[in-house]
Amino acid sequence: MKIVNTIDEVRAQVKQWRAEGLSVGLVPTMGYLHEGHASLIDASHRDNDRTVVSDFVNPMQFGPAEDLESYPRDIEHDAALAEAHGCDLIFHPEPEEMYHEGFSSFVDMTVLTQELCGLSRPVHFRGVCTVVSKLFNIVKPDRAYFGKKDAQQLAVIRHMVDDLNVDIEIIGCPIIREADGLARSSRNTYLSEAERKAALVLSQSIKLGSEMVKKGEADCGKIIEAMKKHISAEPLAKIDYVKIVDLATMQQIEKLDRPALCAIAVFIGKTRLIDNFFTEDI
Ligand code: PAJ
Repeated sequence: MKIVNTIDEVRAQVKQWRAEGLSVGLVPTMGYLHEGHASLIDASHRDNDRTVVSDFVNPMQFGPAEDLESYPRDIEHDAALAEAHGCDLIFHPEPEEMYHEGFSSFVDMTVLTQELCGLSRPVHFRGVCTVVSKLFNIVKPDRAYFGKKDAQQLAVIRHMVDDLNVDIEIIGCPIIREADGLARSSRNTYLSEAERKAALVLSQSIKLGSEMVKKGEADCGKIIEAMKKHISAEPLAKIDYVKIVDLATMQQIEKLDRPALCAIAVFIGKTRLIDNFFTEDI
């Protein structure tokens, strides 16, 4: 496995693979890799001859008051994990390599980004769409892998690829959790011992909501109310949102009469964590 820092090196390597007739999968990440990322690399390794992992903390998707500076980084650990899961090339650029002086073109999206994380993080999806478009143009993979953990991001990327006629297959992969249910996230490292325990209200409320749906509850208000009640009982938790949206439009719905996403964002202390369930997965 190779680690490269420049766009030219990625292009040269992929060109060589293409000349050999090999297929290429891309797993975009911001590094500090864990089992969630590993599951995406496994999926790419299974489906493609070669796998590229991008490892780049993208400044453009962080708001001014967010955790860009403190976001955890460990390229040696990432390299070992990625290689163990079948990665062939890590692209680990500096911000200047991705955003040269005078950079001024963006990929933005309207409808799908107005709800959920788009509301709480106004510049976030413009940053995600722009960097993912750049990565697609740099690597030109056959397939790209995204986790359902970031459900809105997955929907936004699918929509972007469709809108802009990008010839890349987008593969959504299941949420990987700790043994006690907490969804794996690079941000879990911010949690103190007490916060780590408190963070369980996220996965517990997701379980509660999905069980209500399984039993036939179709009133979104009732499901949301029960989930909010469970989360609010934890003193260290502060709800950002608990919402049920139409999977196709990301707009809130009142009745579960179409494929939907139940998504939550909760502050545990200062750390903002997300979790969700798709009604189609129940
Ligand atoms: P990052 O948070 O590093 O996540 C990279 C990919 O791993 C995303 O597709 C995310 O959904 C997936 N992932 C993270 N935790 C997961 C879990 N517990 N189970 C399954 N998949 C999980 O998402 C980003 O980076 C960035 O926004 C990026 C797309 C790389 C653009 O900068």
